[in-house]
Amino acid sequence: MLPAASGWQSNGHPGVSGPVKVRRGRLEELRRWRETVKLPPDFFEDLTHELQWFYLGFWNEEIAHIQWIADGERPCTVSNLVLQPGEVEIRNVHTLAKFRRKHLYSHVVAFAINDLQSSGIKTIYAHVNTGNKASLNGFLAAGFRSIERITTRRVLGVDWIKHEILLGSAQRM
Ligand SMILES: CC(C)(COP(=O)(O)OP(=O)(O)OC[C@H]1O[C@@H](n2cnc3c(N)ncnc32)[C@H](O)[C@@H]1OP(=O)(O)O)[C@@H](O)C(=O)NCCC(=O)NCCS
Repeated sequence: MLPAASGWQSNGHPGVSGPVKVRRGRLEELRRWRETVKLPPDFFEDLTHELQWFYLGFWNEEIAHIQWIADGERPCTVSNLVLQPGEVEIRNVHTLAKFRRKHLYSHVVAFAINDLQSSGIKTIYAHVNTGNKASLNGFLAAGFRSIERITTRRVLGVDWIKHEILLGSAQRM
């Protein structure tokens, strides 16, 4: 669980080069892309989880990256976090495989953080599988910091969830 360091700002990742474009997405545009390009499930969060706020990254005008924003109106990806006013979660971050390691994620998340801060958002959370090095390193590189480790185990059909606070605190049920 990683909130952005407060006041963190960027005009883009320093390593970004090449034909990257970033913008806040509109559903009509995303629907058009889905009709023409085969996209993975992370590009369908409006249909699966009723999310509407997202950012798109393009490489040479081709759709290449998406990341979604959820606020307190939507269930969080972890059950013990209740997002308060001024807090959001970045989720379902995805760079299409052929565009990875081109700093698309870095560029889009920097844009998203600036845009979210301009919209009055004070804290941004993300939840990352600790085995997902690309995602974990990407969020840390973007200025996020780890505040909690959540371990889930299923024993005889029962889920056991362990929370370890690493830093700071978050609003919980
Ligand atoms: C995670 C993901 C979004 C990163 O997208 P990306 O556009 O390739 O990332 P970037 O090129 O902007 O890289 C940003 C930073 O992330 C880290 N990173 C990215 N890919 C990495 C990899 N394969 N291994 C280690 N670190 C990696 C690096 O720190 C990198 O910065 P650097 O290249 O300057 O060192 C992409 O790998 C992806 O879509 N994965 C599948 C979906 C997924 O796992 N989503 C996350 C769910 S929480």
